[in-house]
Amino acid sequence: MHLFRYVEDPAQTRIDTYEAHGGYKAWRKVLKEMTPEQVTAEVKSSGLRGRGGAGFPAGMKWGFIPKGTTKPRYLVCNADESEPGTCKDRVLMERDPHAVIEGMAIAAYAIGCHLMFVYIRGEFGFSIDVMRTAMDEVYQKGHLGKNIHGSGYDLDMVIHTGGGAYICGEETALLNSLEGKRGNARIKPPFPAVAGLYHCPTIVNNVETLATVPHIIVRGAAWYKSLGTEKSTGTKIFSLSGHVRQPGNYELVLGHSLKDLIYSPQYGGGILGDKKLKGVIPGGSSTPFLTPDKVDVPLDYESLTAVGSMLGSGAVIVFHEETCIVWVIANLIRFYRHESCGKCTPCRDGTGWLEQIINRIEQGGGKPGDVEKIESICDNILGRTVCPLGDAAVMPIQSAIKKWRDEWQHHVEHGTCLVRTQFSLAEGV
Ligand SMILES: Cc1cc2nc3c(=O)[nH]c(=O)nc-3n(C[C@H](O)[C@H](O)[C@H](O)COP(=O)(O)O)c2cc1C
Ligand code: SF4
Repeated sequence: MHLFRYVEDPAQTRIDTYEAHGGYKAWRKVLKEMTPEQVTAEVKSSGLRGRGGAGFPAGMKWGFIPKGTTKPRYLVCNADESEPGTCKDRVLMERDPHAVIEGMAIAAYAIGCHLMFVYIRGEFGFSIDVMRTAMDEVYQKGHLGKNIHGSGYDLDMVIHTGGGAYICGEETALLNSLEGKRGNARIKPPFPAVAGLYHCPTIVNNVETLATVPHIIVRGAAWYKSLGTEKSTGTKIFSLSGHVRQPGNYELVLGHSLKDLIYSPQYGGGILGDKKLKGVIPGGSSTPFLTPDKVDVPLDYESLTAVGSMLGSGAVIVFHEETCIVWVIANLIRFYRHESCGKCTPCRDGTGWLEQIINRIEQGGGKPGDVEKIESICDNILGRTVCPLGDAAVMPIQSAIKKWRDEWQHHVEHGTCLVRTQFSLAEGV
């Protein structure tokens, strides 16, 4: 494994240790030996896909910057880390900040950018401190600034802290926020690569995506491609949480079994209290549930799509048999309603309406037809909003009703829970 190779070493945050472990070698190599086109081609050939959720090929995205544009180009590292269950980017920033900065610098060079930004979630006080210290060290060593290492290339970096809104992780809302505006999503197209920050060509990439780049440059695209599966290359950090004995961030090659992640003593260590598994959200709170019969699946983009879910940001949330699914959904919809930016009616009003009905059902006041009403509201949100937050809000609801309809009906008909009314994460430890 490479991303997490040194995360247990507290000294890794210091530039001397990072360099002793081979850090900034890739940056020097790029500046001395490679053209921007060669860097882009190497990353394209590695098959690296964005780790922020959508899984879009990174090199291909970099190639979308319009050729010959005279406008400034920008690189933005998306460190907003907002999806519930996802907690990997902050670990990279807090434990290996120079890998993030080096990856940013290489990506910036590849797209011809001279000013790059990292947009960090405002609540991540420690990540912000560590990244600031690392940035100061980088300037002191001359890895950033004017005429870097005599290459004639200039590059500066800005650390920008966000206010802590889920929508500000969505790339266009992030760009609005970075411009000092309210974090509303923009209609696409135009995509940021064409008209992004200050209407200039901009590439937005996730922290983990960028932290991977130096490894690809040093060890080569062929090495990276040799890890993972044919279409899902390399490794991915999975944030495992919920009813498992050993929650945590685990770096695995793509294609590793989900079942093994949950049960292996090396990783999750099995279900809390030796209870039975009820379901898993495999890719962050916006992805559809998997039932136990679907858990023996490789963790890669294609296999998870084939079983009706998504890899997303790689946040695997596990629920045991005593979990009330209506309770889970009531929690999720509260989050999405709160985080809707309010720009479009289906999301703004739909999530509020869903929250009211689902809460009423959860608290025993369900009425006949409620479940069908929820389904109809979901149908009217899905695919009808400016940004994917609307879809993210409804996909887990739709799958929870499809898979556990009897529990929803029981809540409505009896005003009680088929499973139980409360559970505690600490129980059974
Ligand atoms: C509501 C919403 C929240 C998002 N939050 C994040 C986030 O916190 N971090 C992130 O990297 N991407 C997030 N994304 C995805 C970004 O819009 C974008 O696709 C990503 O940063 C691109 O980087 P990548 O190509 O390296 O994955 C979010 C998307 C949506 C719709
Ligand atoms: S879907 Fe929701 S979060 Fe996205 S733009 Fe519309 S109102 Fe805002």
